[in-house]
Amino acid sequence: MKTKIKITNCCKTNKKTKKCVRKTDDKIFSFPRLYSQKQCQQMTRKKGYKNLGFTARSSCAPYKGCSLRQKGGTRKIKREKNKTKKGKGIAIAVLHQNPYKITGEVEFIPLESGAMRVNYKIKGLKDGKHGFHIHEYGDLRDGCESACAHFNPYGKKHGCVSSKERHLGDLGNVVSKNKMARGTIVAPDLSLYGKHGIIGRMIIVHKDEDDCGNYKGNDQKKADESVKTGNAGERVACGVIGGGHAVPLKPPGF
Ligand code: CU
Ligand code: ZN
Repeated sequence: MKTKIKITNCCKTNKKTKKCVRKTDDKIFSFPRLYSQKQCQQMTRKKGYKNLGFTARSSCAPYKGCSLRQKGGTRKIKREKNKTKKGKGIAIAVLHQNPYKITGEVEFIPLESGAMRVNYKIKGLKDGKHGFHIHEYGDLRDGCESACAHFNPYGKKHGCVSSKERHLGDLGNVVSKNKMARGTIVAPDLSLYGKHGIIGRMIIVHKDEDDCGNYKGNDQKKADESVKTGNAGERVACGVIGGGHAVPLKPPGF
């Protein structure tokens, strides 16, 4: 059985439109578009057409007949927020050399918004939540300990990615299940270089859960520690964050 696809007027397309018909010549266009709105506009301009706002999958032909206010078919998928910064490279940390046999990889991808996407894959952690931070130094002379405190260029209190106040290096927790932790964290205000730069610093996974600075109990020691380290406990694995594929050799501003 064939499912009927409603063919709408190209001037009246919306997000659910699968096909539309151009009233001036009965030409049918399919969605989604193959090219972005910008690419289509550039192509139509190159061909000498005026940009009338309509773009379609195969031809990118400008639509004749819609008023400029009717942006038929110009759907723009809103991915801006999590759009990867082009040509700026990524950073990588490999977790190794710890007595707990924990191994893993952490990938840092800068986003257009100034945030950092952190993809992690960590094997061998106990099931549950584990504090996850970028610490100040990439110094392994004393194992994970010589990384010193959390990366905190503004002298703030400890928190997590969604906290009002946080160290820039606070990434919250990773969650391990069946000895495997795998996921993505988007952390604001981090970059590869500069004041928010993470290359050359250390990523550390802790034994315990990070309380994100929200400890509410009566233990004063724990309360103090909560706004410093989140009570995440021992450092069970760490790795120096290095420049990955396509990172420019000469960082900007150096
Ligand atoms: Cu830490
Ligand atoms: Zn912190």
